[in-house]
Amino acid sequence: MANELPLHIGFIMDGNGRWATRQGLSRSEGHVAGANAFRRICEYGCDLGIKSMTFYAFSTENWKRPPAEVAAIMDIFRDYLREAEERKLENAQKGMHMHYMGGRDGVPEDILDLFDTAENESINATRTTVNIAVNYGGRAEIVHSVRNIAKRVQAGELAPHEIDESLISAGLYTAGQPDPDIIVRPSGEYRLSNFMIWQAAYSEFWYTDKLWPDFTEADLDQIIADYAKRNRRFGGV
Ligand code: FPP
Repeated sequence: MANELPLHIGFIMDGNGRWATRQGLSRSEGHVAGANAFRRICEYGCDLGIKSMTFYAFSTENWKRPPAEVAAIMDIFRDYLREAEERKLENAQKGMHMHYMGGRDGVPEDILDLFDTAENESINATRTTVNIAVNYGGRAEIVHSVRNIAKRVQAGELAPHEIDESLISAGLYTAGQPDPDIIVRPSGEYRLSNFMIWQAAYSEFWYTDKLWPDFTEADLDQIIADYAKRNRRFGGV
């Protein structure tokens, strides 16, 4: 039977730097173009009624990039979140709920505040949840969940034999959301790069040589059409 619309799509927004080099622009300008692609795909996915979309915007490893590039990416987050604040009524009408996904340590306080505001202001929107992965690593996310479980065991609230997969899932940043049905990686790379490694256990993958800034609404249509033809067995026959 054909699959329905995917409930959750993950996007690894890769290739901004190469896109910029090809255009003779700076890497930071590549990230600006990447943010524009993010805006377009986010809006389109919401129009289509995709329940959850997760965008990998900044990994725990990305702090190793040159300080000027990190600062430029943080400024892009600020610009987007201020703009989201200005457009909050429009976003609410669209039903877009924004969710910060990642560790908070080390992220500038004003950015966390802007994310918290965007999240709180869109709390009643239920059409599409947009997870923005910032300071995110899949392994760190699992550690975060397990630590909270360990605290509950230590407090005597939970016995070790009660720890199961659903409890670990419930402690992840995507708690309550379906696992990604399909994960998209542009730019000709074939890696998961620590992205939703727990949630991706049964995800389909979709690759393209296109660089993220060139990613279009038509590509998302293609992903949805391809997904509908995939035969998902979840370990069965
Ligand atoms: C990876 O491409 C991209 C990043 C580390 C940054 C992604 C950030 C954005 C697209 C901005 C998102 C904005 C919002 C508002 C969520 P790369 O730099 O590794 O590309 P390369 O492999 O070609 O060098």
